[in-house]
Amino acid sequence: MNEKVIALVTGASRGIGSAIARRLTEEFFVIGTATTEAGADAVAESLREKGSGIVMRIDDEVSVKTAYELIADKHGMPLVVVNNAGITRDNLLVRMKDEEWLAVVDTNLNGLFRIVKPALRAMMKARWGRLVNVSSVVAQMGNPGQSNYVASKAGIEGFTRALAQEVASRNITVNAIAPGFIETDMTAGLNDDQVQQMLSRIPLKRMGTTDEVAHAVAFLVSNRASYITGVTLSVNGGLHMS
Ligand SMILES: NC(=O)c1ccc[n+]([C@@H]2O[C@H](COP(=O)([O-])OP(=O)(O)OC[C@H]3O[C@@H](n4cnc5c(N)ncnc54)[C@H](OP(=O)(O)O)[C@@H]3O)[C@@H](O)[C@H]2O)c1
Repeated sequence: MNEKVIALVTGASRGIGSAIARRLTEEFFVIGTATTEAGADAVAESLREKGSGIVMRIDDEVSVKTAYELIADKHGMPLVVVNNAGITRDNLLVRMKDEEWLAVVDTNLNGLFRIVKPALRAMMKARWGRLVNVSSVVAQMGNPGQSNYVASKAGIEGFTRALAQEVASRNITVNAIAPGFIETDMTAGLNDDQVQQMLSRIPLKRMGTTDEVAHAVAFLVSNRASYITGVTLSVNGGLHMS
């Protein structure tokens, strides 16, 4: 494992993905994605000479294809892929609009398929690869108002276990990370009452940091985790123990 290995991190412009991309530059050349040119430029700037930024919308097949062609031409295909990009569109199911359901499932779950399939071919050829899929604590706990998001994240965990079995013979590991309540834009919209209510349920009595999630991802893609596949690693301060 060295800087010649390319790591792709989706959703690297903000929050958890940004921390993962920065952390992985300690081991790899990192390509971080954003949905806009300005975001991709900012990713490139933050990764300096150890990485690059690229526009890629995981809910758009053409955008994914174009980005992969650019990556393959310029750097070679990634052997480490962290599927981090994800969205929420919260609503109680009785009020949920078709667009809210479809956007979340298409981005979080279909997006995973769009990203993983092309990368897998290169990993199988190299007989080495690391995939980490970012799930959420709510995949196991459930959460009212998030049936779309929870369904997508539970799907990601099932996908992880199935694919891990398909590709283990090629020395490719496939794992998931399930963060709890992490300080990012995604949680910034919660009001004080919601935050206090959540904190009261967390044994470690605080939100997690993006770096704490990034360290766990860095472990799963390292050679130290070479005998770990098909697991979902919780990074949730004890909010849910399974
Ligand atoms: N924060 C938490 O407490 C928490 C807890 C559990 C799980 N998670 C999961 O962790 C991951 C990152 O969450 P976060 O809190 O860091 O999110 P965030 O701050 O909202 O950032 C989301 C990232 O995803 C990108 N993105 C959004 N839609 C996209 C699309 N259609 N195609 C490609 N990229 C897209 C965004 O790019 P732009 O900047 O270009 O919009 C951004 O980089 C998500 O999968 C989330 O479900 C978060």
